[in-house]
Amino acid sequence: MEKKITFYLLLVLLFTVGIMTSCTKVGPAGPAGKDGTNGTDGTDGTDGTAGCVQCHDNSQVILAKSLQWEASVHATGGNFERNTKNCAPCHTSQGFLERIKTGADTTLATIENPAPQNCYTCHEIHQTYTPADWTNTTTSPVELWINGTIVDFGKGNLCANCHQPRIPNPLPIIGGDSVIITSPYWGVHHGPQAGILAGTGGYEIGSGYSNSDHTTVVTDGCVTCHMAEAFGVQAGGHQMGMTYLYHGHEKINTTGCITCHPSGIDAKIEATQTEVLDLLTQLKTLLIDHGAMTETGGIITGKMSCDVAGGVLNYNMVEADGSEGVHNANYVRTLLTNSIQALSSK
Ligand code: HEC
Ligand code: HEC
Ligand code: HEC
Ligand code: HEC
Ligand code: HEC
Ligand code: HEC
Repeated sequence: MEKKITFYLLLVLLFTVGIMTSCTKVGPAGPAGKDGTNGTDGTDGTDGTAGCVQCHDNSQVILAKSLQWEASVHATGGNFERNTKNCAPCHTSQGFLERIKTGADTTLATIENPAPQNCYTCHEIHQTYTPADWTNTTTSPVELWINGTIVDFGKGNLCANCHQPRIPNPLPIIGGDSVIITSPYWGVHHGPQAGILAGTGGYEIGSGYSNSDHTTVVTDGCVTCHMAEAFGVQAGGHQMGMTYLYHGHEKINTTGCITCHPSGIDAKIEATQTEVLDLLTQLKTLLIDHGAMTETGGIITGKMSCDVAGGVLNYNMVEADGSEGVHNANYVRTLLTNSIQALSSK
């Protein structure tokens, strides 16, 4: 029995070896292959990682900027689940990149796996794999959605694409009769800063509108003031905020102001903001009297005259702007004063 098995095993072995040898027969060697092209993107054309290491080096620049960004509201705000067609162009990184390519004001579809505003949103990261990829994804002047006004804030145009008023539905018309407001979120939305800085988009009742110097003299707009030299990760740079805590007190990061305001800037801010906050309070009181606003600033929906709705729009726009007049004091003063006047006489 055992002998039989051994015999069969031997037979199988011989057979296998036979097949293997017949398969490994080798023909004559072919000609040598051509040299490969040098690695792409190296500055000297010889090293494929030469481009990479100009950014991914030991300078700690990416680390520092990343730390600032991680502390910014772009990273911490958490509202990037707003990924549907109407919201994704500003609230998701992918939606924004799609929009600046198509020029459309919505995305084609909901953005899956949404990411918030990050390095790839604002820079051409990993397009050419060279330091040229620090180029901003857009710097073109921006046509504001609300009324087609074209603004040019230099490097700040990047920001203006998202930080602009949205179109309220319905839109009250000066001289018009009334509108029916059905949503407590009605208005120009949360980030209307580009409209305020440019001096457009409010309910411009009455006359006397003008802009402050900031509209034209601050060459890079938002970037000049908000991305001035970083104060740790609290303000400036890629944190982009304007305030930080110093020995427990909130201070405004005035690094970007100094070239134009070498002294007395804190007092100047204080004066403008106090005046604007006072105007906001006056307008709110009137809106409460007209039954359009609650004590806490909420909108009471329903039918209202265009001037009352315009007052609500102006109140919310100035409040949402967040600078309390600093962006464009003259425009904000007139918007609020004229709304106050219109509503006082009714
Ligand atoms: C313009 C500067 C720049 C160049 C050039 C560059 N990178 Fe990057 N790289 C970045 C930035 C910015 C990030 C994102 C950092 C972050 O999210 O923290 C990144 C992220 C990465 C990551 C982490 C994974 C990821 O995708 O987020 C890897 C890996 C990487 N790079 C490899 C490379 C390689 C390999 C090259 C060259 C072929 C290269 N990079 C060239 C700037 C650069
Ligand atoms: C792709 C759209 C987009 C771009 C581009 C963009 N932002 Fe923002 N920004 C947002 C959104 C959305 C938020 C709120 C984030 C959240 O809550 O998730 C925000 C938040 C902020 C905040 C914090 C606001 C607060 O409530 O404290 C500042 C400051 C800011 N952005 C400044 C800038 C500046 C300056 C630029 C240009 C360098 C810029 N942003 C570019 C969409 C954008
Ligand atoms: C034109 C760009 C743009 C579009 C479109 C947009 N948002 Fe925003 N949104 C912003 C900006 C900018 C901010 C942050 C403003 C700030 O903090 O100053 C913001 C803030 C918010 C916030 C945070 C508010 C808070 O108090 O913290 C919510 C929630 C939000 N948006 C919801 C939406 C929804 C829902 C949609 C779609 C229906 C939408 N947004 C469409 C630009 C946009
Ligand atoms: C909301 C838009 C925005 C985001 C997000 C953003 N950046 Fe920037 N970044 C800018 C702008 C605008 C400038 C130009 C600032 C200036 O000129 O003062 C800039 C400049 C830079 C520079 C200097 C570039 C040069 O030409 O020398 C570096 C480096 C940089 N960013 C890295 C990063 C990294 C890393 C991330 C992600 C962690 C990031 N940025 C995210 C808008 C952004
Ligand atoms: C002249 C300087 C200047 C310019 C230009 C400027 N800002 Fe501001 N911004 C400020 C100051 C000052 C505040 C008020 C800070 C405070 O009192 O909390 C502010 C407030 C804000 C806020 C409220 C949240 C915060 O960080 O305090 C946002 C968001 C904002 N600005 C975005 C923008 C955007 C977007 C642009 C461009 C369209 C812009 N700003 C242009 C100086 C500027
Ligand atoms: C490129 C120049 C420039 C920069 C940068 C600049 N400003 Fe101004 N600002 C002006 C000019 C010009 C005026 C008008 C003359 C005046 O009041 O000093 C002005 C006026 C003001 C006013 C008075 C507005 C009013 O009418 O009530 C305030 C407040 C102000 N700036 C704050 C700031 C702050 C805060 C910063 C930095 C975050 C800043 N500015 C950056 C040029 C600049």
